[in-house]
Amino acid sequence: MNNDVIYECVVSTVNEQGQPNVAPLGVRYRPEGRVVLMPFKPSTTLNNILATGHAALNIVTDTRVFAGCITGRKTWPMLPMVQAPGLRLACAQRHLELQLEEVSDDAQRPVLRFTTLRDETHAPFKGYNRAQAAVVEGAVLVSRLHMLPADKVDSEMAYLQIAISKTASVAEHEAWGWLLDAIAAHRSKQGQVAPHRA
Ligand SMILES: Cc1cc2nc3c(=O)[nH]c(=O)nc-3n(C[C@H](O)[C@H](O)[C@H](O)COP(=O)(O)O)c2cc1C
Repeated sequence: MNNDVIYECVVSTVNEQGQPNVAPLGVRYRPEGRVVLMPFKPSTTLNNILATGHAALNIVTDTRVFAGCITGRKTWPMLPMVQAPGLRLACAQRHLELQLEEVSDDAQRPVLRFTTLRDETHAPFKGYNRAQAAVVEGAVLVSRLHMLPADKVDSEMAYLQIAISKTASVAEHEAWGWLLDAIAAHRSKQGQVAPHRA
């Protein structure tokens, strides 16, 4: 059975001076509480993990964190971890306190393997929300604006907009607005037209 499913989470780390960094990252779960992260270089997350040996894996449904980090909003309310040094997101539904176990270095994308020191659930999973999924997909598109054709971004954002219009709460509307603003800013830098806002 394929055990290589990727789950979109948010990784929080601190540097040696204790300054936090928050970044959406795909995670692969392995047996016995082991977790794999693969950050592309260059990455503050990677630097912080190599410097401190720890990270928090935050499972969040407030997708403003995804859209916010991708659009330059990197400051979020944090709380101290319990069994590891560093900070986790205050809004995490669940968080895992990770200790670095093994690094397979790579010129582009090292593989970081962790053990879980603590796994704490703070709120129950309410079920899937289409607008939350749309914001995560939109954040991926915005993180790749420099390499995707404008018409592909426009058609995918137009499709995702349906889920936003039908199922978003205030949080997803705010996150979606940040993504549209980022696309508009990117287009105006390039002298192109921004997508129509619903
Ligand atoms: C849903 C989602 C998943 C992402 N997954 C990864 C990932 O697995 N690896 C990665 O390097 N960047 C990933 N990114 C991009 C990072 O969040 C970010 O752009 C950067 O690579 C790391 O930021 P940092 O310098 O703060 O560590 C993802 C972005 C989004 C929106």
